[in-house]
Amino acid sequence: MAIYNIEQAGQSSVLREKSKPIKEVNDTVRTLLDDMAETMYHAEGVGLAAPQIGIARRIIVVDVGEGLIELINPVLLKGRGKQVSEEGCLSVPGYYAPVERFKTVFIEGLDRDGKKINIKAKDFAAVALQHEIDHLDGILFTDKAKKPAKSQDEE
Ligand code: NI
Repeated sequence: MAIYNIEQAGQSSVLREKSKPIKEVNDTVRTLLDDMAETMYHAEGVGLAAPQIGIARRIIVVDVGEGLIELINPVLLKGRGKQVSEEGCLSVPGYYAPVERFKTVFIEGLDRDGKKINIKAKDFAAVALQHEIDHLDGILFTDKAKKPAKSQDEE
């Protein structure tokens, strides 16, 4: 187990890359999942995507207090409804802004054994999952924020 440094927006190009899918779920990937969860808990975050630790691969971990969700190659299949909630990000420390997301999401991905799994999530868990999946496409919550998260100049 290891705790990684978390990449900071504006200082890291990997946060803006489109991450590559995992081709084979092996021990290296499982170790990465363990390290990502440890890093997320250490930073007191509710989610973490691999690019946030400098690894442009499609892996996310989320725990909004309902247990750890690990997903490899996650795909948002369908979303229903709308919700707006205040978001933050370990890669954008100190900034919070409201973002509109689906209220309920249906997501497909692989678990740590490489088996296909389907997840239905709503409310805050759905927000966290959508936020983390966005990271895999180089999208930060500040891109979608309803109000400028930093300053008027950056809108
Ligand atoms: Ni984030």
